[in-house]
Amino acid sequence: MSDQKFIDEVNSRRTFAIISHPDAGKTTITEKVLLFGQALQRAGTVKGRGGSGQHAKSDWMEMEKERGISVTTSVMQFPYNDALVNLLDTPGHEDFSEDTYRTLTAVDSCLMVIDAAKGVEDRTRKLMEVTRLRDTPIVTFMNKLDRDIRDPMELLDEVENELNIMCAPISWPIGCGKEFKGVYHIQRDETILYQSGQGHTIQEVKIVKGLDNPDLDSAVGEELAAQLREELELVLGASNEFDRELFLSGELTPVFFGTALGNFGVDHMLDGLTAWAPAPQPRQTQERLVEAQEEKFSGFVFKIQANMDPKHRDRIAFMRICSGQYSKGMKMRHVRLGKDIAVSDAVTFMAGDRSHADEAYPGDIIGLHNHGTIQIGDTFTQGEALKFSGIPNFAPEMFRRIRLKDPLKQKQLLKGLVQLSEEGAVQVFRPLDTNDLIVGAVGVLQFDVVVARLKSEYKVEAIYEPINVATARWVDSEDPRKLDEFRRKASTNLALDGGDNLTYIAPTMVNLNLTMERYPDIQFRKTREH
Ligand code: G4P
Repeated sequence: MSDQKFIDEVNSRRTFAIISHPDAGKTTITEKVLLFGQALQRAGTVKGRGGSGQHAKSDWMEMEKERGISVTTSVMQFPYNDALVNLLDTPGHEDFSEDTYRTLTAVDSCLMVIDAAKGVEDRTRKLMEVTRLRDTPIVTFMNKLDRDIRDPMELLDEVENELNIMCAPISWPIGCGKEFKGVYHIQRDETILYQSGQGHTIQEVKIVKGLDNPDLDSAVGEELAAQLREELELVLGASNEFDRELFLSGELTPVFFGTALGNFGVDHMLDGLTAWAPAPQPRQTQERLVEAQEEKFSGFVFKIQANMDPKHRDRIAFMRICSGQYSKGMKMRHVRLGKDIAVSDAVTFMAGDRSHADEAYPGDIIGLHNHGTIQIGDTFTQGEALKFSGIPNFAPEMFRRIRLKDPLKQKQLLKGLVQLSEEGAVQVFRPLDTNDLIVGAVGVLQFDVVVARLKSEYKVEAIYEPINVATARWVDSEDPRKLDEFRRKASTNLALDGGDNLTYIAPTMVNLNLTMERYPDIQFRKTREH
């Protein structure tokens, strides 16, 4: 088996992403996490702040700018305690949710950030559903304690009931809003005192040991101290104790309280995450389970991003390393193409900078320069024919017909659309019976992105027309004869997607339901694995 250094490198990795509803504080907590990782001297440079954070939907330039910035921070690696942490950023705007979902397939755990004044919100619910597909372990951070928040006990109840996961509070807040005094760390049996106005620095911690310590009364006031003791009795009686096994199986989440803006409590969360979150987990392929400690290299591509840096107009394929070691110049087998390639210029992402990676380990993300030969879902190995499974494509929910202003450039248009669909920017469908091109998206912003990129990267000017499509389903059948028959009979509603997969394009939901009833031997899928 492999040497000890390799095993240690693997075991030190903690690869996670943040899930939250917009405005809950994901960007802010990312800044503070990096501050602790010593990656940034002073927090506050992750996102272009000031001005309007919200961009107008049609404002492509603004969006590109914002995207450009968030993209360079899309993978952040830093040391914390004895761990090497990889934080994978996910696009905040919901129109890029497909990217978010796929990023969640590349992590081993998630941090769920909740605005404690609001509780569980929509997008958190949706993202939690996605993490449930793989039972990803979840750490929870209740944010914005410097504001008036909801009753903490009620918040835990809401998480338990709405997200169907047990809560184990690790810390407990003392007051909130102007009266926020700090948290009592249940496991350490100590109170950590909050000082306001220290959000940009790593604070010198003030600690009161023990719950019955009279210093606690003088530090937070007798009333709040009494309230804390009373609440804790209740909480400890009514809530779950932390159990690592249940955490690892995704059934229980440790809960921390704090304020990202005030940089308070973030370190408690990081201590918990680095101690408890799993090292790189084994990954399923269609052939077998791949263990992270295996010597031979393997990885899969979960995201492709164009225009990483306006100066380099290239595409980067983000690969999660699943086993073995990447070293500069090594040969990898691009399994789908059956071709070996030498990779000398993979990139890693340290706190926003691109730097060349000389080596990387399971759990790490590397970026491969891609000139159109890499697709989402592609597997790379050191020779073995494996295919990692579980990287989803989602049925689009919005459709438009796309048409050229100059009809002579049809070939470029098709090439552009197929490439954009391969990198997951949009989905394209070519009906079997017509020459139409239909573009499908999960979020409406994708449509603007596609037209702008077609123009700048493929030199074609395209426009949209409305089209009567309600939804799409990938179709398949175990019985080739039935599939053939379906193909003939339903051809007016059938199309091929960017990867030539047969798709049913339904004008209405009623039509889809009737068709599904009529063809019970055909499977209609809402998600498709790459
Ligand atoms: P997001 O990435 O999840 O969308 O959230 P982001 O961090 O951008 O935070 C959303 C807003 O909430 C920001 O305010 C941010 O300053 C604020 N915020 C984050 N954490 C805390 C906290 O612990 N306490 C308080 N009081 N506010 C917090 P904004 O006004 O939208 O932006 P900005 O003008 O402050 O940059």
